[in-house]
Amino acid sequence: MSFLARGSIARLAARNFSTSQRNNVKVCVLGASGGIGQPLSLLLKQHPGISYLSLYDIAHTPGVAADLSHINTGAQVKGFVGQDQLKAALEGIQIVVIPAGVPRKPGMTRDDLFNTNAGIVRDLATACAQVCPKAMLAIISNPVNSTVPIASEAFKKAGVYDPNRIFGVTTLDVVRANTFIAEAKGLDPVSLSVPVVGGHAGVTIIPLISRASPKVDFPQDQLEKLTKRIQDAGTEVVQAKAGSGSATLSMAFAGARFVFSLVSAIKGKPDVVECAYVKSDVGEAGFFSTPLLLGKNGLEKNLGLGKLSDFEAKLVAEAQDELKKSVQKGVEFANK
Ligand SMILES: NC(=O)c1ccc[n+]([C@@H]2O[C@H](COP(=O)([O-])OP(=O)(O)OC[C@H]3O[C@@H](n4cnc5c(N)ncnc54)[C@H](O)[C@@H]3O)[C@@H](O)[C@H]2O)c1
Repeated sequence: MSFLARGSIARLAARNFSTSQRNNVKVCVLGASGGIGQPLSLLLKQHPGISYLSLYDIAHTPGVAADLSHINTGAQVKGFVGQDQLKAALEGIQIVVIPAGVPRKPGMTRDDLFNTNAGIVRDLATACAQVCPKAMLAIISNPVNSTVPIASEAFKKAGVYDPNRIFGVTTLDVVRANTFIAEAKGLDPVSLSVPVVGGHAGVTIIPLISRASPKVDFPQDQLEKLTKRIQDAGTEVVQAKAGSGSATLSMAFAGARFVFSLVSAIKGKPDVVECAYVKSDVGEAGFFSTPLLLGKNGLEKNLGLGKLSDFEAKLVAEAQDELKKSVQKGVEFANK
């Protein structure tokens, strides 16, 4: 692991885990054979706090699980394949990560994935509500702005909805903001922290560069360019991959970071903060991403938007219509 020991993921994984705290969180990846699912599972297999990794997909999981199970880290790995094995995959699970579904091709928006991915997320969330209703859900499948409301409706239908346990993973937007802004200023990207709020599609992705830590300053034209690049970064990868999919490796890194934070929070580590898209009173849509304090039971305190620059306040106002439409579309689909 020495190559990883220099990177932040290994540091995140190892931080503050005393021997007694190691090895007892059970995590399931739904969509584990995919472009995101495989590298994400590889990163999760290296976490000292994860004792069991359940890998579910509609194809190829026996092979992925056999492969990962040879790695000499603590997590026991088990593969489950096909609908008949879904419930067994979710037995006893505390964190479910969902990257199942189709990715974008050039020219597509995330919303173009709705018709395929909405049903996949609804069915997977329904199974989670039945088998592991207290698990934390980390939803990666797009369009996140709609799939989180869909999963929430599935939990409501089952009578087990806890809004503090269902998260849309927007960590990749934070990771990208940190990278691009660090590059522009010649800073260490590992040490930079830029909150990103709103949602996870186009104009709903709102980096709060005024709140970067350490503080950075840009002239307005550069600020606008950087904001646009962060909003369009997913499309940058989709175009570069030219039809073979969207971000997978950086998404696996970001997904692992978010799961590691959930693991830390479950284990009682204080001050674990991540941005994620959750049920929220912030904004008008009912769901919104802001920095969240995470605890043993999921979202402990929504830290809200905080102080915004005029430019950021305008972006937040402009995102409301699209967010409202995406949330409504998800809720209507789930109740149809
Ligand atoms: N939240 C983000 O920031 C972010 C970033 C990148 C990609 N994504 C999204 O993540 C999703 C997955 O992307 P990918 O590149 O891994 O796609 P992929 O096609 O490589 O993998 C998807 C996997 O899901 C599986 N799958 C399909 N239906 C399933 C079902 N019913 N149950 C379980 N598994 C099922 C497939 O067999 C496949 O292995 C896409 O929706 C993509 O848009 C989100």
